[in-house]
Amino acid sequence: SNEQMEARVWEIKKELGGRLFIPGHHYQREEVIQFADVTGDSLQLAQLSAQNREAESIVFCGVHFMAETADILTTREQTVILPDMRAGCSMADMADIEQTERAWSKLSAMYGDTILPLTYVNSTAAIKAFVGKNGGATVTSSNAKEMVSWAFSEKQRILFLPDQHLGRNTAYDLGIPLDKMAVWDPYKDELIYDGNVEDVLVLLWKGHCSVHENFTIKNIEALRVERPEMNIIVHPECRREVVEKSDYAGSTSYIIDKIENASPGSEWAIGTEMNLVKRLINKYPDKNIISLNPNMCPCLTMNRIDLPHLLWSLESIVKGIRFNPIEVPQEIASDAILALNRMLERA
Ligand code: 13P
Ligand code: SF4
Repeated sequence: SNEQMEARVWEIKKELGGRLFIPGHHYQREEVIQFADVTGDSLQLAQLSAQNREAESIVFCGVHFMAETADILTTREQTVILPDMRAGCSMADMADIEQTERAWSKLSAMYGDTILPLTYVNSTAAIKAFVGKNGGATVTSSNAKEMVSWAFSEKQRILFLPDQHLGRNTAYDLGIPLDKMAVWDPYKDELIYDGNVEDVLVLLWKGHCSVHENFTIKNIEALRVERPEMNIIVHPECRREVVEKSDYAGSTSYIIDKIENASPGSEWAIGTEMNLVKRLINKYPDKNIISLNPNMCPCLTMNRIDLPHLLWSLESIVKGIRFNPIEVPQEIASDAILALNRMLERA
């Protein structure tokens, strides 16, 4: 039963003590997040993993790219474990390294040495390595503005992987007009732009988050009619026009802070992952909170990590086997860390 599994997880946590570390992303299920030693957004979890030098086993409750990042930032003696290998990220899968190498050679032929690559942390370790090798950095939704500004202090143009929406929303907030942004289509190997390509400053990889793309202008328009008093707050992985029509937009931590500091009785429609929205609804019964999309589902890959998988991972540690280790090859890790460190120095 669930109770028995929960009791066993507590028991193993007690037995392993500081030798075990469980970071949990805010989008994780309640049945899992209750066991997290720390919770956070992707930036915080990267920083916390980098700081932990004691734990031999890090059971990462999040998705594959986060576990890879944790593996890169921890020591060789520490093993990062992902409780279910199917916990990927559809956005990270939208940029593979071959596509990226092809794009880079075509773009370099067009623009010479004027582009700096940036990648959202929601990307494979191989993409981070590519970016690191080419002088660029990783970004997260909570430091994207700082990192994009930095990139423009280095080079005239940026290539932003793999989330076109975060890239577009961030560049727009920094004052770059939409007509200076073009989309790179990695399946057609071409730039989507109808103007003089010399004018382009921001090259956006054609990727997106399938969870955040579910929030639409229609959701906003319906709410403005039915509940005009509602504040609408969304994650910048939402499309430009959705961010445009919202009252507030920001990273997972920004949304959490905003709701925490909102006055009792205030009304909020949130456009982000459903496990987090539900948690906020339960945590703040004095505030009126709903999801911006009433038919919203949680992130399916985040949800792969459930209590049975968590327990299975922990039992494997107790037996000394450690199932599902995430081991980024050294030659990839050594370049990826350049990109991560350029961010962590500035974040
Ligand atoms: P943050 O945790 O950086 O806000 O990212 C959101 C997300 O989609 C994680 O997969
Ligand atoms: Fe990937 Fe979107 Fe899920 Fe985050 S919410 S893990 S970006 S699919």
